[in-house]
Amino acid sequence: MTQDELKRLVGEAALDYVEDDTIVGVGTGSTVNHFIDALARIKGRIEGAVSSSEASTARLKAHGIPVFDANAAGPIPLYVDGADESNRRLQLIKGGGAALTREKIVAALAEKFVCIADGSKLVDTLGRFPLPVEVIPMARSHVARRLLALGGQPVWREGVVTDNGNLILDVHGLRIDDPLAFETAVNQIAGVVTVGLFAHRPADVLLLGTEQGVQTLTR
Ligand code: 5RP
Repeated sequence: MTQDELKRLVGEAALDYVEDDTIVGVGTGSTVNHFIDALARIKGRIEGAVSSSEASTARLKAHGIPVFDANAAGPIPLYVDGADESNRRLQLIKGGGAALTREKIVAALAEKFVCIADGSKLVDTLGRFPLPVEVIPMARSHVARRLLALGGQPVWREGVVTDNGNLILDVHGLRIDDPLAFETAVNQIAGVVTVGLFAHRPADVLLLGTEQGVQTLTR
């Protein structure tokens, strides 16, 4: 199977977690796009969605799925999103699509976070994928220096502006042995909006697409 077929497999499998008459939290990325397309088939059974990006909002609306403001939706039962890496404790690196801040907000609203990913995303130790950090533009250099001091090599994702009007630094060369402590440390840097490390709020379920089918990991 191609990587995209594995993504489709888990995107469709996540439908099993959707409860009738609820608002569904929807992440961002190519794997989630398969989930959105699958969700469209049962759109009459749900109230609508809360979206984590302008891109996902556009895709949801194109399918005729109502999109609610996060403030109006309140707590939601389910959030479905992809990841760039997951360890076996379902702590994640996210933000490859620059949507990390809104993703973290929708994840925080959700009772259950179901992560969908092809099997290549499972790692023993987080950090091979460069860790995205969303920063306020005027703090870019300051945050970069502090990230260097924390042992990483930050690279400005030039030309990318997030949905919130901010910038992204991708931190290379990390081996994140203590994700909880590292997330806290990066969050302390003035000018950091969000770090794409989801350790304090990991996924609850990871659906991994493999040649043998969907593998389900739970915490
Ligand atoms: C976007 C994300 C995505 O979930 C992550 O980049 C995975 O993307 P894809 O499903 O395209 O592999 O965090 O900010």
